[in-house]
Parts: sequence; C-alpha cells; structure tokens
Amino acid sequence: MTDHLNTHSMHTNTCGELTAANIGAEVTLSGWVNHRRDHGGLIFVDLRDRTGITQIVFDPDTIGEQFALGERMRPEWVILVSGVVRARPDGTANPNMPTGEIEVLLSKVEILNSAKTPPFAIEDGIDTDELTRLRWRYLDIRRSEVLNALKLRSTVTAAMHQALNSRGFIEVETPILGLSTPEGARDFLVPARTAPGNFYALPQSPQLFKQLLMVGGVERYYQIARCFRDEDLRADRQPEFTQLDLEMSFISEDDILGLMEDVMAEVLDAAGAPHQFPLPRMCYAEAMGRFGNDRPDTRFGLELSDVSHILGGSGFKVFASAVEAGGVVKAINAKGAGDLSRGEIDKIAAVATDHGAKGMAWIAFTKDGEVKSPIVKFFTDDEFAQLKTTLGVEAGDLVVFGADSFEVVSAALCAVRLYLADLLEIPREGHSLLWVVDFPMFVYDADEKRYNANHHPFTRIKDEDLDKLDTDPLACGSYSYDLIMDGYEVGGGTLRIHDEQLQLRVLKALGFSEEDAREQFGFLLEALSFGAPPHGGIALGLDRLVMLLGGFKSIRDVIAFPKTSSGADPMTGAPAGVSARQLKEVGLRLQ
Ligand code: AMO
Ligand code: AMP
Repeated sequence: MTDHLNTHSMHTNTCGELTAANIGAEVTLSGWVNHRRDHGGLIFVDLRDRTGITQIVFDPDTIGEQFALGERMRPEWVILVSGVVRARPDGTANPNMPTGEIEVLLSKVEILNSAKTPPFAIEDGIDTDELTRLRWRYLDIRRSEVLNALKLRSTVTAAMHQALNSRGFIEVETPILGLSTPEGARDFLVPARTAPGNFYALPQSPQLFKQLLMVGGVERYYQIARCFRDEDLRADRQPEFTQLDLEMSFISEDDILGLMEDVMAEVLDAAGAPHQFPLPRMCYAEAMGRFGNDRPDTRFGLELSDVSHILGGSGFKVFASAVEAGGVVKAINAKGAGDLSRGEIDKIAAVATDHGAKGMAWIAFTKDGEVKSPIVKFFTDDEFAQLKTTLGVEAGDLVVFGADSFEVVSAALCAVRLYLADLLEIPREGHSLLWVVDFPMFVYDADEKRYNANHHPFTRIKDEDLDKLDTDPLACGSYSYDLIMDGYEVGGGTLRIHDEQLQLRVLKALGFSEEDAREQFGFLLEALSFGAPPHGGIALGLDRLVMLLGGFKSIRDVIAFPKTSSGADPMTGAPAGVSARQLKEVGLRLQ
C-alpha cells in the first residue's frame, strides 16, 4: 500500500519507508511537522505522514537561506521537502523506529500550510478525554492509534469483499429511505417533502430487501450495509453502525454456518489473528445454563452450576422457596477467591443485586481451612458434602449463590461471573469464537403481555415445532444462530420463512391481525406467494468485529466519526435545529 502512495503524488517516498538501503537517494517527502529540535547550528524536524516519521535536517551549508524557514517550523505545519538520504552519525541511530538509521539532509523546503496549535498532542497514548478528541476528530485521526484502527477496518472489509466475491456473491445496495423493518429498536424517521405527513424510516437492517432479492433469484447477496437504530447507546452500540449483511438461497443452516466460517477464516487471517475452524456450536439452552447468557466468553471458566437438587430442600428458606416457586439455585465456584475480604465479597454481591438479584449468598473456604458464610448453618452435613463434591471445592475457593427464577439468576450470575474474571485478573488471551444455535422462536414480554420474536418475525420455526405454533409458542424452536466472539454477539442470522401462510401464522402469533399484517408486510407476503426459494442469511456487526480484533474497548474507536453516548457529534454539532423554512417544506411544526 505504501508503494502506491508514491505514484500520482507530490512526494517520491513516504515518511515511514526509508532505511539504510536508501542511503544516497534524492527524495521528496511531504507531511506534518511532528517535532522540532534546534541543535548547535542544525535543526532537526520529525516529519510525519500516515506511514510513519522521518527525521529531516536543516543544515545552513546545504539549505542556504531557507534555513530561516527551519527556525519557523511549528507543530502540524504542512511541508514539502527534498534532500538526500544519509546515515545518521554513529551513536545517534534510533533502533525503535523503522527509519531510525537514516535522516534526510534537506536541500529545499516548501511550506504548504501553517497550523494553529492543536488542542492535544498528536501522538499515541495521550489521556485527552474522548469528547475533546471527537470535537477535533480530524486531528485525532492523525494519531497512528486511530489511523491504525481505520486501516484494520479497511483490511477487514477488503477481505470480506474478496471472500464473498470469490464465492459467487453479488453485492447489491438496498434503500436507505424506506419502510421500517422491525428489528426491535425505534426507527429514525425522515419526513417526506413530496408526501406531507408521511415518513421514510431509515433501515434497522436490509432484512426484508435481502429476502426480496432472494425471491428475485439473486441466490447469493451481500452488502456492507449501514444500519440505523434509535436505541440507548453503549460501548458496543451506535445509532448508525455497519453490518456485513448476506443472504443465500437453496441452503441449509449448515451451509450458512460453513460459508460464514470460510469468510471469517479469511478475514481473521487478513487481520493477523488466524483462528481454528470449524467453530464449536453450543445450543442456546446450554449457553444460558452454563454461562447465564447467550453470548458466553468461553476463554475462562467460572461456570454456573445448578445446585437446586442439592439445596432446594435445605433449611435455608431463600433457597427452598425459590425452588418451590419453580425457580433455581445456582452457584459459581470462584477458585482462589476464598480469602477475599468481607468488603470485597459485598462488592460482588452488589453486582448481583444491580443485575436484578435479591441477594447473593456465599461460602468462603479460606486457604487455611476455615469456612466462613452466613448460610452454611442451614445445611445438613450431607447437603454440604454434596455441594462441595459437585462444585469441586478446595481450600481457597469462594462459592457464590443466586436463588430466584431462572432468568433472574442467569442475569445476576452472568454479571457476577464477568466481574469475578476481572477481579481475579483471569487472563483472557486470544479470541474465543463459537456459534450459539437453536434459539427459541418467541420470548414473552410480561409487561406488554404478548409474544415477541426472539430474532425477528421472518425467522423459520423448526419443522418439528410447527404444530405448537398456535398452542405453545414458547416451546417453538427456530433455525437461528449467533456468532459469538469474546463474549460479544458479533453476528446473528436465521433461516427464513418462505411460505406465505406460515409467515401469516407467525405474524398472528405476534399479535398481528391478518389485516395489520397485510398492511405492514403486504409486499413481503405477496413476494412469498410468487415462488420464494428457501433462504436464510446472517449479518455480522462490522464495528464490533473490528473493535475486538484491534483490542479496543468501544466501537467508537473503530468508527471514523462516531457519535457520543448521547448520540451527538461534537465536531459538526449534529443533531441540530433546522430553519423554519425547512420545517415548512416538509409540513412540520415544532411543539
Ligand atoms: P441483528 O439485529 O442481530 O440481526 O444484527 C446483526 C449484528 O449487528 C450488530 N449490531 C450492532 N452493532 C453496533 N451497534 C448497534 N446498535 C448494533 N445492533 C446490532 C451485532 C449483531 O449481531 N437482519 C438481521 C440479520 C439476519 O437475520 O440476517 C439483523 O440485523 O453484532
Ligand atoms: P438473609 O437471610 O436475608 O440475611 O440472607 C442471607 C444471605 O442470603 C445473604 O448473603 C443474602 O445476600 C443471601 N440472599 C438473599 N436472597 C438471596 C437470593 N435470592 N439468592 C441468593 N442469595 C440470597
């Protein structure tokens, strides 16, 4: 890539590529002044471009009267310089930088632009707050940390294009201005000037269009697609984000998982993080049981154990009544945490209660054989012995408990598990990749008293569960799969319904009357009635994938111009008011 930067350009070389092999060459470089040092009659400037830094030297003997320009150089000035590459004098080479053996002795310099003093240092490892960095994001991007994230992203998307183009996929763009697709979030709306009172919705994903492409016979579609979801933002959520979206016809679930693994293998190789394939598959129920959530980080243990059968009948009321009410008692054995202080244990308990638990009982087995606990007194010797065997307890362990409904215990202990991993500094090296499969088709929303689609309403129900659709929706499985990486959901997809009548039945189970269903999804239902092939697909969250590959903590770090957690762009000031005239044109009046 560096080579190409030197063609069709003002410069003959980049600032990152000159080595001892270039000594004696006449070169022209361009870039930004990174740093200037005046040294007994000589001026040294570190010149920076996107590839690196080269030291250039102003010597009055070679540059003549332009030496005065050297004295004026300020950080971030933009210059074009010519000179000869020479070895740095003995003892002044810098082995820490690729160009550290050489410097360029200047014969000519041209100032292309001056610059105001930047609000933060243009270097890696600065502790400037994120808001300031985003306010001047174009300066932030000059720092190699940020630029490297953008390069990694480009490498990843290039590998995706390559992998899919070579497997018969056609890249197709789908509308940004469209009808809303129900992916579970709120829509961003765009008022339509040409149809006052009507709105486009920005797509939450290209879901319905990609299905229509399958009906159109495209057979293999992909797109690096921008998606828009108006939801509460987190480190791994932005209001606009990017998916590698794909769809295939005439396939089984295995075909899609296999294809995706081929693509991921090439992507991870390109990103310098080769991985072993095929990936393990875990069903949803197992993931929930062992890890308390459907996106387990499997790089460490601390798994959940169901001990309802041991302690459900015990004298500890909290446990007994949880099991009596149809709930569970589950435990995590935190090895090596048995000597934590009471205060530290209380902090773990606070994590459990913050995530919905009513409390967190515990038993500490200290290294020197003591047992401390508010609850062991309620257990019989037999119950205690069984518990220790089941959990493999040794001196030095801390066992923590959750007792409640399965959902409450899962959420609380999942959070406790992740907290413990950080607290105990359990190493999480490399990447963990796996499929979680076989999600239930529906979830019950107790507040709204209705069923929602677990993935989306176009997901195909397991053939063997079709007869339960009207009688016991929660028992219906689906052909669905999530790709999990390091405890994040980096992708998700399903086989789709390709039969109009079945699609209507599912929409009915979700509370749509036939009339409503036809009004909202008439175009899809109609398309299904014109010979839709069996099809399915998946979408990968590109931002999350690149974040994990680059070792970043937030997807904001891998997006050129991200929004803050309140959805704002501190640089441009979006979102912002519009003029009265603009409002009038689209037929809106503000409250
Ligand atoms: P889903 O809603 O699971 O599926 O989205 C797919 C992947 O997109 C990523 N993702 C996000 N990334 C950043 N910010 C967000 N707000 C955000 N929301 C989702 C996740 C997720 O796994 N149409 C279906 C796919 C299909 O069925 O083929 C869909 O959009 O990594
Ligand atoms: P108590 O009997 O309320 O003093 O509780 C004794 C211990 O049980 C305390 O450590 C509580 O945090 C814990 N506890 C209370 N409710 C639950 C629950 N639902 N699940 C697990 N532990 C609990």
